[in-house]
Amino acid sequence: MSVSLLGWLWWPVAVLVTVLGGAAALLYWWMTRNYDFWSSRGVSGPPPKFPNGHGIPNPRDFHSVERALYEDYGGKRYCGLFEFRQPALYVGDPELICAITIKDFEHFTDRRDLVLSKCMEEMLVSLSGRRWKALRVAMSPAFSSSKLRAMHQLCLETANNLSDYVRETMAQDGKVELKDAFGRFTMDNIAACGFGVDCNSFGDPNSEFTRYASQFFKPLSGYDMFRLLVLSIFPRRIGNLLPDRAEPAGAFFQRVVMRTIAHRAEHGSGRRDYLQLLLEIKSGTGERAISDSLIATQAVMFLVGGYDTTASLLTCAGYALATNAEVQQRAQHEIDQVLARHGGHLTFDALSEMHYMDQVVSETLRLYPPFMRIERQCVREYTLPGTELTIPPGTLVIMPVLSLHRDPEYYPEPLRFDPDRFLPEERERRRAGVYLPFGSGPRGCLAQRFALFEAKLALVAVLRGSTLTPAAGTPPPPLPLDPGAVVATPREPTFVQVLPRHSG
Ligand code: HEM
Repeated sequence: MSVSLLGWLWWPVAVLVTVLGGAAALLYWWMTRNYDFWSSRGVSGPPPKFPNGHGIPNPRDFHSVERALYEDYGGKRYCGLFEFRQPALYVGDPELICAITIKDFEHFTDRRDLVLSKCMEEMLVSLSGRRWKALRVAMSPAFSSSKLRAMHQLCLETANNLSDYVRETMAQDGKVELKDAFGRFTMDNIAACGFGVDCNSFGDPNSEFTRYASQFFKPLSGYDMFRLLVLSIFPRRIGNLLPDRAEPAGAFFQRVVMRTIAHRAEHGSGRRDYLQLLLEIKSGTGERAISDSLIATQAVMFLVGGYDTTASLLTCAGYALATNAEVQQRAQHEIDQVLARHGGHLTFDALSEMHYMDQVVSETLRLYPPFMRIERQCVREYTLPGTELTIPPGTLVIMPVLSLHRDPEYYPEPLRFDPDRFLPEERERRRAGVYLPFGSGPRGCLAQRFALFEAKLALVAVLRGSTLTPAAGTPPPPLPLDPGAVVATPREPTFVQVLPRHSG
């Protein structure tokens, strides 16, 4: 009796094991059957590993993986990788980078079809093809020089709050943490310019706005990695079945903007912020494709694309100034001279005349670029100029930023912080394609001018009245970065001391 029961039980188990084993074998075959893609085309590269190929490397050694690709596997010209099962060409040759991102852009108009959260699907950064182009053309005027000038007053108020906050924190705590101070500035600026809201993170770091915003910038958890894996392998609608932790934050910000839009439609608005500029572009062009909800999504993008990046730039700049006294003195000397010519007022024109500060910001972005890589997706078959290599549509192209910026061939003594690398004649001399903090070509950063403008404004507002110096525990240069962070972030909190100064 018990023998026949065992016999009955054995069959379903055997069937289950066979089905699961078959499914696993099928998945393995499907994921790896492409793995000769590069070798069959004569392209070298590190051997891929199932299941991720070379995607999502161990976050603890992201920087060393990058260095090895660039230096050891031929990535300084190009080498072949796999992002899960998708072939990706890693291209470090500046001429090829210019060809891909600028000259032959029509072959590479898109990025990979991977969006971390549903609320980001309609953001400009995620769109592809004709929809991307129409929105990019419509949005570009929002960042013209005249629009920046219009936003100057709003940003200046936030910058002055930052300068007060830095001095008060120093008086209270004896030191200032850079990411904390500059993060508050960036958040307030985004709230003021992107959402038309006063978020006051200097006074209340736990406002509803800041709490929801922080949901977008939490480090990736194990669950996020799993969701990313599913989204990378399967069609988006399958990945979207998994709960999305950024969704409540996305919905909150959409509500905030829609409320503001409704209020402005009824009462009008004298504010010259980014949201108002988007609304004006919409009514000015009569562009039907731009709905209020699409505008609200682009305001949320201001937060998602602008917070971590700008806070990272400012944190690294603050550190670089504190640890390079001579550079800081030259910057302060320039600030004093220019402000004296402008009656002590930090106007838009005064800021535009501060060329050395411009060099300081550019050098910061070289040594500590917020994004380590940029990427494109091939949309039309392409033969790389000067080679026999042809890549089909669907191939990813990954281009290094950090490795180029720290390559001694392009930047001698690359770890030295030297703003004179960005003197006009040096910029002129440098070959194209080796400086990519904002990417390159028609798909480069939409808000580059705004980001540079607000960063300079913040630094000038602080340095005109204060001097930054290292505090106990400030690491020696170069600033150690967290190798697991998506956007460049110091490995540890970075403290400095702030000494008052009297500008001349
Ligand atoms: C220091 C600050 C910033 C840095 C370093 C930075 C960097 C970048 C980089 C590297 C890209 C990819 C470019 C490429 O693929 O060639 C990008 C794209 C983009 N950035 Fe920024 N960014 C910054 C601030 C901002 C801000 C404040 C916004 C606000 C709206 C913004 C909006 C965008 C958008 C919309 C794109 C996608 C453009 C497109 O696909 O057409 N960025 N950014």
